[in-house]
Amino acid sequence: CGIVGYIGDNNASEIILDGLEKLEYRGYDSAGIAVNYNQELIIRKKEGRLKVLDEDLKSNPIAGNIAIGHTRWATHGAPSDENSHPHFNLDKSIAVVHNGIIENYMDIKKELTQLGYNFFSETDTEVIPHLLDFYSKQSDDFFSAIQKTLKKVKGAYALGILNTKNPDTIFCARKDSPLVIGKGTNENFIASDVPALLKYTKEVYFLENEEIGVITKDSIEIFDLDKNVINRDLHTIEWSMDQATKAGYPHFMLKEIHEQPQGIRETLNRRLDENNQIMFDDINLDKSNIDSITNIYIIACGTAYNAGLQGKFALQKIAGIKADADIASEFRYSDPFIDENTLVILVSQSGETLDTLAALREAKSKGATTLAITNVIGSSIAREADNVIYTWAGPEIAVASTKAYTTQVVVFYMLALYLADIKENISKENYSHIVDELLAIPDKVQSIIETEEKIKKIAEKIKDNTNGFFLGRGLDYSIATEASLKMKEVAYMHTEAFASGELKHGTIALIEENVPVVAIATQDNLFEKSLSNIKEVKARGAYVIGVTQISNRTIEEVADEVIFIPETDDLIAGITAIVPLQLLAYYVSILRGLDVDKPRNLAKSVTVE
Ligand code: G6P
Repeated sequence: CGIVGYIGDNNASEIILDGLEKLEYRGYDSAGIAVNYNQELIIRKKEGRLKVLDEDLKSNPIAGNIAIGHTRWATHGAPSDENSHPHFNLDKSIAVVHNGIIENYMDIKKELTQLGYNFFSETDTEVIPHLLDFYSKQSDDFFSAIQKTLKKVKGAYALGILNTKNPDTIFCARKDSPLVIGKGTNENFIASDVPALLKYTKEVYFLENEEIGVITKDSIEIFDLDKNVINRDLHTIEWSMDQATKAGYPHFMLKEIHEQPQGIRETLNRRLDENNQIMFDDINLDKSNIDSITNIYIIACGTAYNAGLQGKFALQKIAGIKADADIASEFRYSDPFIDENTLVILVSQSGETLDTLAALREAKSKGATTLAITNVIGSSIAREADNVIYTWAGPEIAVASTKAYTTQVVVFYMLALYLADIKENISKENYSHIVDELLAIPDKVQSIIETEEKIKKIAEKIKDNTNGFFLGRGLDYSIATEASLKMKEVAYMHTEAFASGELKHGTIALIEENVPVVAIATQDNLFEKSLSNIKEVKARGAYVIGVTQISNRTIEEVADEVIFIPETDDLIAGITAIVPLQLLAYYVSILRGLDVDKPRNLAKSVTVE
């Protein structure tokens, strides 16, 4: 879910709506706003996309300079007007927006119901305004009501709170769910994520766990739960406002696909010195630590997990260290072999995915060294991991991840080279060769993007199919996994990624006339085998789209369509090969008339388990 709050001299509801629009990727089942106007809280909330609320506010505007707003991804209670945030107490003097889950809400709800509190929604959140109401009746000090409430609830929260008794103040608090405070001039802001604020300010305070922010239009104070003052450094955000808007593109996904050359370049440049040596000096791993690493676990969800599959390949092949990739929500149940010689790498675009955060905590508690690869500075995973490497993709807004993925994969290659170098597992020539190849990737990605029209034509041919397959061997199999996920999430086409060699052991039964099969064959040493697999499916009527490097022309004899990618070292071909397949998913989605930036049922970062 997304949170925005504003206090200043301007119309608050307009700023809240604008901010929520930037955060709609966080959830889009429903949206709502509470405005503090003339000592009264005016609350509007609507099921559906933000535009439903927007239209309501346009036809019936609310004046007022202090407000909090929310866009929701439903967890407890279906999307409905009632379950939307803000939630409020009985006399509507307190309004609350919340991200996260209050785990003990059932018990609290029971207690409050016995005390005569009526509930309007099925949400866990609603216990908070009622608890605040209950405690604020015990004393006039609203801050102490917040303290008591936060000490009572268990679980995760980022909160924005308005209260008519403190009409010039926004209160906020966080635990395990992100919240930033934006500092303006004669105005201040809160938000769950930075993109909501970029238009107004780049100066932010990151609230830490179990802290409370007290914000007026010209002051920002931060306290711990015992009301000790916290002195937090002001942080300047490097992302530009342009990066958080569509900047002329029809969709964020297309814009972000196009931003990959720049993001990859930036991710490389930030970590290369003038001699093209990879610098990870801030990472607390010296030669003896690195020599003692016996195994690596890569843990992530969704697309970040798929990047981890390529990471496994890079770490094993280049650094010669045993690596496994595991899905964060499954990791804990597999009794992982972790000790102080284990390195656990957490990959997360947002740095907030709760499954990944939980795995990080588990790994730490078992004594592993942890390393985060994330795109969001100051995110929970970045702060809790022992070490962090940032991707420099810039803000990723489309729900389906593209530029975060390719920059994550680039980080894995740099890390593998860095570890290999320290372990003296790689020759100087080979090291420089791979770095040079990585540096050439941005231009190659650019040239693939320029073939967009051709990919659109292929999309036309498969757009009405309900099923499809992505095949690959070795590294190509991990690319297939990500390409298939893209097609499922944005185009709603049911596709499966298969190891080419495994297909014949069962799944080939599904191949029939005209089923699209995307055969990824970038690896020279496996090319002949891949060709045989293409022939197998072709013989059974499949419509084959081959993806290969430009020199492998023979594929044209067996495939119906071929997407050629520029020649690159086979080792890193995954970074380029995914790009046309991101475009393919994008165009199938567009041709099907779907909302490519906000696919149904999804949210960009899921902060519940
Ligand atoms: C959600 C998104 C996916 C994303 C995954 C992991 O499920 O819909 O697109 O890959 O979370 O997100 P993260 O921020 O941890 O990379």
